[in-house]
Amino acid sequence: MRAKIVAGNWKMNKNLAETGVLLSELKTKLKESPDAKIIVAPTFTNLYYAFEELKGFDIDVAAQNMHQAENGAFTGEISASMLKSIGVETVILGHSERRAYFGETDELLEEKVKTALKHDMNVIFCFGEELEDRKSDNHFNVVESQLKNALFKLDNEAWKNIVLAYEPVWAIGTGETASPEQAQEMHAFIRKTIADAFDTKIAEDVSILYGGSVKPANAKEIFAKPDVDGGLIGGAALDPESFAAIASSF
Ligand code: G3P
Repeated sequence: MRAKIVAGNWKMNKNLAETGVLLSELKTKLKESPDAKIIVAPTFTNLYYAFEELKGFDIDVAAQNMHQAENGAFTGEISASMLKSIGVETVILGHSERRAYFGETDELLEEKVKTALKHDMNVIFCFGEELEDRKSDNHFNVVESQLKNALFKLDNEAWKNIVLAYEPVWAIGTGETASPEQAQEMHAFIRKTIADAFDTKIAEDVSILYGGSVKPANAKEIFAKPDVDGGLIGGAALDPESFAAIASSF
C-alpha cells in the first residue's frame, strides 16, 4: 500500500524565530494521528533546529536540495552526508525553480538522485511541464522525458526510496491549480509509464504527489483521485491553519 504524504516546501521563507513559531503552531494544529505522512522542508539554516524541535512528533523534516558530490570545493553547497548528520533523511530534488533559476538539468538531477540513494535518503523528485508544453499538447512527452532521463536507470530496489511530485509549472504559485481531472490524468500516465518501464508493483507502490496551488479549498477533491497520493505544498505550507487543513484532506 503506497503512502499518503503531505509535504510543505517552505522555499526561501522563515528565519530561525519564524521557523520556531510556525513549528509550534503546526505541533498543535496537526492532528495527533494524521491521515498522511507529514513532512516539512525549511531552509538549510533552520533544518537542524526543526529536526530537534520535531523530535517526538509525527512530522518528518526534508531538505529542499543537496549537491551531488560527496564533498569538496563547492562553495555554498550542502552534501548528503551533512544532511544525514543532522538527522535529515529526505530531500526534495528537481524542483522547477531549481531547474529554471539554477539550470538544473535531468542529467544533473540523475546524479543528485544517485547520491541521495547512496546515502539511503528518501527523494521527493519534482517534475512537470511548462504552460506552453500543455498548450501545444506536449505535456505528456515532457513529463515522460523528465522521468526517463533522471530516474529510469534506477534499479527496482531504489524505487522504495522515491516519491514523485508532479508539479505543473503553470500551477506553481499562480493560484491556477490543475483540475482534479488534469491531475488524475497525468498521475495515471506517470504510473503507467513506470509500470511499462519497470513493473506493475513498483508503479502501484510509488507515491505520486500533486503540487501547484494546493489550498484547503481544493485539496480534498484532488487528493480523492485514485492516482493522487497527496501533495507538495508551497505557499499554503507557510500558514499553519492551511497546512493542517490540507493535511486532513483525505
Ligand atoms: O514545491 C511545491 C511548490 O512548488 C508549490 O507551490 O505555492 O503553488 O503551493 P504553491
